[in-house]
Amino acid sequence: MNTVYDCLIIEMDKHHNALGNITVVENGKDVPFNIQRVYYLYDVPGGEERGGHAHKALRQLIVAASGSFDVVLDDGKNKRIVSLNRPYNGLLIVPGIWRELNNFSSGSVCLVLASEKYDEKDYIRDYQEFLKEKK
Ligand code: TYD
Repeated sequence: MNTVYDCLIIEMDKHHNALGNITVVENGKDVPFNIQRVYYLYDVPGGEERGGHAHKALRQLIVAASGSFDVVLDDGKNKRIVSLNRPYNGLLIVPGIWRELNNFSSGSVCLVLASEKYDEKDYIRDYQEFLKEKK
């Protein structure tokens, strides 16, 4: 059973250049899964919270491509808050972890690289059901 301590920060390469930086993410090299889907959250109103669910099989790498936000990880026993604020750091979220994203800075962009295509059946959106499944 996965715990919040299985969610790791992956530091990716940063190619520094006087004209700006570039970070590259490649399947099998920088992420431990094949990327099937990419999406990004932006224009999140101040004070709002995203997430509030867990996934049964999906793995994700979450990157603050711009700005910053916090990810609250919860495995039913332990909670961890991870602040993301560097475009070259990714937070790997493994299956079976309840997550909430909050404290979005103005103009922030949350880039998500995901191991599967979108499937609503992979979501657990009810916290009590999540706790039951973790027992
Ligand atoms: P959701 O994953 O619940 O958002 P968040 O966790 O960021 O708060 O998705 C919000 C809505 O967008 C939901 O109605 C489903 C839809 N959606 C898709 O259609 N495809 C996708 O790949 C994702 C991530 C969401």
